[in-house]
Amino acid sequence: MPEATFHFPAGFLWGTATAAHQVEGNNLNNNWSAWEAEPGRIIFGQKSGLACDWWGGRWKEDLDRAAEAGQNAHRLSVEWSRIQPRPNRWDENALDYYRQMVRGAVERGLTPMVTLHHFTDPLWITEKGGWENEETIQAFSTFSRKVVDALKEYVTLWVTINEPNVYAYSGYLEGVFPPGKHDFNTTLRVYTNLVKGHAAAYQAIHGAQPQARVGIAAHYRGFVPARSWFPGDAAAANIQHTLFNQFFPRSLMDGTLNFLTRREKLPQAARTQDFLGINYYTRDRVKFNLFAAGKGFGRNEYASDAELSGTGYLANEPLGMFDVLKWGLQFQVPMIVTENGVEDADDRMRPRYLVQHLHQVWRAVNFNWPVRGYFHWSLLDNFEWERGWTQRFGLWGLEPETQLRRKRSSADLYAEICRENGISSDTVRRFTPELMPMLFPG
Ligand code: FCB
Repeated sequence: MPEATFHFPAGFLWGTATAAHQVEGNNLNNNWSAWEAEPGRIIFGQKSGLACDWWGGRWKEDLDRAAEAGQNAHRLSVEWSRIQPRPNRWDENALDYYRQMVRGAVERGLTPMVTLHHFTDPLWITEKGGWENEETIQAFSTFSRKVVDALKEYVTLWVTINEPNVYAYSGYLEGVFPPGKHDFNTTLRVYTNLVKGHAAAYQAIHGAQPQARVGIAAHYRGFVPARSWFPGDAAAANIQHTLFNQFFPRSLMDGTLNFLTRREKLPQAARTQDFLGINYYTRDRVKFNLFAAGKGFGRNEYASDAELSGTGYLANEPLGMFDVLKWGLQFQVPMIVTENGVEDADDRMRPRYLVQHLHQVWRAVNFNWPVRGYFHWSLLDNFEWERGWTQRFGLWGLEPETQLRRKRSSADLYAEICRENGISSDTVRRFTPELMPMLFPG
């Protein structure tokens, strides 16, 4: 068979994503460090601890790795509790350190994308009620302005809030994130304040930097009716999709809040995304269940024939990547895949997962859908929230105790794709020969 390559557009962003609390280490002044200290919150009582020691300086060697592996972008987040440790105190040294980090990225040829809020809140914010309290909206906007002023020489791509749907759902309904609540009305209040917080930050960022490109990183989970003949499954899947996937970005497009019976106009939120960031990992089959009101009357499971990740956390469902990019077209802004990846300590499934998902991104690009970049989660293993260190998402493995990094084969695979700005049959043949008949038939 002649060699063939699936090309991506010139200027496509190829990177990996990380988040402050998951990689920095010694973050002791936020709600997650307090959560980790509570017994029973994190699997096996694990803690973020030194994490990947980025605050100790190891971001340099890790960004070296990213750059040497052909990447041209990196998504990272700043930790609010470091920059504003108390309501009326700004830590200029912390801001300066982040400046070094984003300058370091640029110097290595990595376009930085900076997330302002990635799940963690300063303790002083938590003590005032966190995002249940309307005052947090203004506080977040002030903080955003401060960060943008400090970093704008090097950064124009900003994510205000990472996965507001996961933050609200996991913290206030499911209760596995702090503050561990199970209350629908509170979830809704938090959701609403996050929309307002994003809108306020959007204006603040553009005020400081007119050429900024601002968006959120929306977590999209595919919900597919389990039985195509049963309308109950379709209804449950649709409720889950509307509440979990659709609600937040939709508010940022049309400036309305449509959440079941609750309707509110939020004109300040209209047209406040310059791009849509998409975090896509997997999709579920949904079965109608009368006793699952809290989950939109659906019980979710993975397809019985799906390939599952290391701890069974994710199913390899690449077609969902195509679905989400198609769904994203409605927002009429460029799209960037801000996260996608799989936990797989042995790196057996990751090469396949990576190629199959990128193949779907390529298909979308070929319909001329405006997809501008892809950030793999993650550059190296890091602290996975309530799942602690049990899940290994890195292109590089990490032993947190020794800080030893070990390159996985997927890092080389991804490097070839980044350098080629495409997926070649030669790469696929060497890294994932089992995919050749499907991707390059004939
Ligand atoms: C996403 C989070 C990210 C990481 C991945 C695996 O929901 O944004 O921090 O934990 O999942």
